[in-house]
Amino acid sequence: MNATVPPPWAMLAEVTHGCPLRCPYCSNPAELVRRSAELDTADWSRVMKQAAALGVVHAHISGGEPLVRRDLAEIVAAAEGIYCQLVTSGVGLTAARLAELAAAGIDSVQLSVQAHTAAASDRIAGRASFAAKERAAAVVKDAGLPLGLNVVLHRHNLDTVHEIIELGIAWGAARIELANTQFYGWGLVNRRALMPSRAQLARAARVVESWRHRTDVELIWVVPDYFDGVAKPCMGGWGAISLTVAPDGRVLPCPAAYGLPLDLPSVRDHQLEWIWSESPAFSAYRGTDWMPEPCRGCPRKTEDFGGCRCQAFALTGDAGRTDPACVLSPDHGLITELTRKNDAEFVYRSMSHRPAAT
Ligand code: SF4
Ligand code: FES
Repeated sequence: MNATVPPPWAMLAEVTHGCPLRCPYCSNPAELVRRSAELDTADWSRVMKQAAALGVVHAHISGGEPLVRRDLAEIVAAAEGIYCQLVTSGVGLTAARLAELAAAGIDSVQLSVQAHTAAASDRIAGRASFAAKERAAAVVKDAGLPLGLNVVLHRHNLDTVHEIIELGIAWGAARIELANTQFYGWGLVNRRALMPSRAQLARAARVVESWRHRTDVELIWVVPDYFDGVAKPCMGGWGAISLTVAPDGRVLPCPAAYGLPLDLPSVRDHQLEWIWSESPAFSAYRGTDWMPEPCRGCPRKTEDFGGCRCQAFALTGDAGRTDPACVLSPDHGLITELTRKNDAEFVYRSMSHRPAAT
């Protein structure tokens, strides 16, 4: 291994893009990987072993909905020595299935919820699923596994953050991630439908702060970078701490990099170690040498790494520019303009539909 590149800490294993839900904010690419193109059990087992050898300590077993893979327990069992978190919609998570997965090595569960009522949650998910989520939360608690809740926030649920936190506490979550929508994949397709107002965000942020004094539950507020004027330290830096393996074996420096003009390496052709430390895709924006001005001369460049490459590409067509979310970016006006556009209906995620961004 290239000794100058520290090993990754985390891996997102997107074992499938298949999913019973149709959330319009999904971070999966608009062009989803079909089930027939997925890595098989032996491929995924090899990936897990290579990840452990490379130094990965935390794997998010995700999708789509990972439970649609009948061989999921075999894949998890191959990740020996890695802390494994199941990231699930909860649909299909029975006590028997969780027992099988826990025996294979699942250490914790992150459950997605779309809103605090069945009607609102099911409308956003594009299918009746709230009741299954409630049952799944109980199954996780009964199994004695740590439960986290993930709620993607946007203009259709931001005004109910208080009720969402109450729901998470009632369901026994130890951690509630309140993730303001990041506009990638289907989230980018639905940007106009999901865009909140500045007033909504300010109110919700105050509600979250007020809860911090009232509960021991860990509350994570993922910042809405379109509104802050500050670029986020996306992925903790390109090729710095984590990698994503797509259902078909492509390996990405971040889960939204499907659309970037990169030659994405595949575990079908290369070892994970070479991909991480040597491949052109992972080297492209690693460190600070690639940066243009104003990042190049900016004191924050080792804190935010110039922001997000996917956002720079989505908004300017050039992944090597300063993230337009930064107020110092010459392209910052693009973001301010977009925050005023919030007038579209949901385009629900689907395998067959390839819509353009709004
Ligand atoms: Fe970060 Fe670049 Fe903006 Fe400086 S100019 S704050 S490094 S994005
Ligand atoms: Fe890809 Fe930020 S989401 S670098």
